Amino acid sequence: MDNQYKTIKYSLDEEGIGMVTLNRPKALNALNLDMFQELDNLFNELIEASRVRVLIITGEGDKAFAAGTDIKMMKGLEVSEVMDRTELVKRTQGKIEEFPVPVIAAINGLALGGGCEVAMACDIRISTTSAKFGQPEINLGIIPGGGGTQRLARLIGISRAKELIYTGDIIDAKRAYELGLVDMVVAPDELMNEAKGLASKIAAKSIPIMKLAKASINYGYSMDLDRGLKFEMKCFRACFETDDHLEGMQAFTERRKPVFKDR
Ligand code: CAA
Repeated sequence: MDNQYKTIKYSLDEEGIGMVTLNRPKALNALNLDMFQELDNLFNELIEASRVRVLIITGEGDKAFAAGTDIKMMKGLEVSEVMDRTELVKRTQGKIEEFPVPVIAAINGLALGGGCEVAMACDIRISTTSAKFGQPEINLGIIPGGGGTQRLARLIGISRAKELIYTGDIIDAKRAYELGLVDMVVAPDELMNEAKGLASKIAAKSIPIMKLAKASINYGYSMDLDRGLKFEMKCFRACFETDDHLEGMQAFTERRKPVFKDR
């Protein structure tokens, strides 16, 4: 699977930590059609036959995670073409969000427009102190179309999302942290250590149980509380059908670390 892509890079280490790098640094990793198609293909392959226990998404270079959807690609398109491409964008964001195991965004610079949308589709966001965030689409005469109006409001609250989307303002990492748009802010040279440290911690858990945790949070979040609690019960019940829950509790009583078998 390695090295078959032009606009992204993918690798998998021995701990099961997959690394996806958005790789158009000359265009500040702007997301063009090729990149969305390659991301879509990669996620299909990873969902099919995956040894990935946790995934990190980052951007190539030290300037940008992604400075948005490629404006040059969007410029002058027919409405039907825009809609076709946006379907692909939404499908790709959905695959990131619904990827069975956790996805961490390691935000190494600008996360604007579609770049911010990709980051928001991830489970957890870590950024550098020099990263910048925003949904500046309003300045181009459009609105965020890759989930930005929806995920931003859910993540930081409706009024704050409106302020960012109506003004198109670009905010720094400190403000993004205060708003809850990013979960952790670290020095640029610490980003990969922190992201990999967090990924390692997640990769060491039982994967079937991790998948149940993610599914319970994600699907339950889109339901009302009553249905969400019922869905949580289904996921909780499924934990008790695994060997790993027996091992986890046995290890606790024996005062040792659990050795999960992923079953
Ligand atoms: N699309 C296409 N190319 C982009 C790009 C984008 N979103 N962002 C940057 N680039 C390209 C520039 O065109 C430039 O390429 P050339 O050298 O070939 O001209 C290269 O990346 C470097 O960019 P700059 O020279 O502009 O770098 P800078 O440091 O002076 O400015 C910036 C950085 C403020 C981020 C500026 O590049 C910028 O404003 N980019 C656009 C940001 C934006 O509006 N993003 C939202 C896009 S719309 C979207 O994402 C849609 C959606 O949700 C539906």
